[in-house]
Amino acid sequence: MNDLEKVFSKFEEKNKNAETGGGPERIAKQKSAGKLTARERINLFFDPGTFVELDKLVTHKCANFGIEKNVIPGDGVISGYGKVDGRLVFCYAQDFTVFGGSLSRSNADKIIKVMKQALKMGAPVIGLNDSGGARIQEGVTSLAGYGDIFLLNVKASGVIPQISAIMGPCAGGAVYSPAITDFIFMVKNSSYMFVTGPDVIKTVTHEEVTKNELGGPMTHNSKSGVAHFVGNDDEHTLMMIRELLSFLPSNNLDDAPVVKTNDPADRLNEELQALVPPDPNKPYDMQKIILAVADDKHFFEVMPHYAKNIITGYIRLGGKTAGIVANQPDHLAGVLDINSSLKAARFVRFCDAFNIPLVTFVDVPGFLPGTLQEYGGIIKHGAKLMYAFAEATVPKITVITRKAYGGAYDVMASKHLAADVNYAYPTAEIAVMGPAGAVNIIFRGDTDPETLAKRVEDYRENFANPYKAAELGYIDEIIHPRDTRKKLIQALDMTQGKRENNPPKKHGNIPL
Ligand code: HXC
Repeated sequence: MNDLEKVFSKFEEKNKNAETGGGPERIAKQKSAGKLTARERINLFFDPGTFVELDKLVTHKCANFGIEKNVIPGDGVISGYGKVDGRLVFCYAQDFTVFGGSLSRSNADKIIKVMKQALKMGAPVIGLNDSGGARIQEGVTSLAGYGDIFLLNVKASGVIPQISAIMGPCAGGAVYSPAITDFIFMVKNSSYMFVTGPDVIKTVTHEEVTKNELGGPMTHNSKSGVAHFVGNDDEHTLMMIRELLSFLPSNNLDDAPVVKTNDPADRLNEELQALVPPDPNKPYDMQKIILAVADDKHFFEVMPHYAKNIITGYIRLGGKTAGIVANQPDHLAGVLDINSSLKAARFVRFCDAFNIPLVTFVDVPGFLPGTLQEYGGIIKHGAKLMYAFAEATVPKITVITRKAYGGAYDVMASKHLAADVNYAYPTAEIAVMGPAGAVNIIFRGDTDPETLAKRVEDYRENFANPYKAAELGYIDEIIHPRDTRKKLIQALDMTQGKRENNPPKKHGNIPL
């Protein structure tokens, strides 16, 4: 080997060393837990051959508890950038085989570097989390690392999409970086998130709970609303993130990518003519309308397991991304409650921050009555949804399919919250409340069932329809359900160049 060959050989050995992570035994343990390694995850996630690794040789600088004798290049996180569907994306993946993926100062600095680059270049940042938390040997320098990441998460919020995947443990204060990001994915059978684990809970509150019950994927996808998606395994989860990215712009100054479609913009949907039942108390599946109108009948649902009385997610219309918010009459009659208000409000704010037009389908009987809702703060949580729709300056298109009652009518992207185009089906009922409730109040003394039935019918005839609102210009157009796709694409086309700004301010005061 000549001198030059020795130089190259040393370089290659260092590289190889860095790529072996915590060694074959720990890699085997990772695999036996049903998890891929951080490097495998990165390779699967990015378009083949596009990943560029940064800081591969970075090591920790800690000299406590003998850890100075254990120095592994890369220090438990793989970071860099690559392409997803040809677009620039930054990523870091915690490597559980190296010190349990725990966060050291050096490790945090690597994450901070990619986050700063992502912000500067205007590209999304994806965090693949699989970590035992703060590097215990490092103490406060590790906490400082977390704090610096949290600060950057907040600075980047609304500027670039930030996405977290929980692909192993995520506990203690470490949960707060994912919590600030826009979307959280979890993986079935291998991920959990909690602020304090089962042992601490047992000591403090005497509750017994398993890790999975406490912070497993379905807990956060269906109960707490912390997570937005669950994947079947690592690969499925990574593919879901790629799909989500395909709907999003790279940053707040960009538009989402346009995906060519052969689906005609004027495609009619005859099946929608009979979808909304004439009986206002009969449920139907709002998903059917969303699927029918979407390009290629494809809908990417966000938070499908949480607050199912409202639907959120992405479709394309004429190739362009639209954010869907829709009451779901098939679940709790599509009522607005605390959870559905929070779910929709966060979704609306994300779309507004990232120039994604909003299409809102309305069939809402009102806000859910009850002490649980009132004590839980339905007033402030419902107000969040109203605030989100009102402050959104992206194109807002609304379709009332059936009920739009009371405050919920106003909240659900009504003309009064500055929606740009408001459609209603002929089956729409826009009124202060449902006919039976209204008659009970206006004609409180009446007890004769026949008279009451007649009054209900009169009320329905006079008020529970779209015509009063259309006469006042609150509804721009009453449309046949079959024309919904065509009408939405026309409206999005008309609003494409929309320019609207809220008054200058430091920031608003959304009722948190
Ligand atoms: C240093 C750690 C570590 C940590 C795990 N390891 N967590 N090293 N700091 N936080 C190391 C282990 O020593 C072990 O090293 C290897 O990672 C794998 O860990 P195992 O315990 O063998 O794995 P497993 O059985 O799968 O259990 C995973 C675990 C457990 C549940 C995450 O490791 C664990 O409880 N870790 C500690 C969690 C914790 O208390 N973290 C601090 C939280 S406080 P070897 O060499 O044997 O392979 C926190 C504050 C953040 O994070 C505050 C932010 C503001």
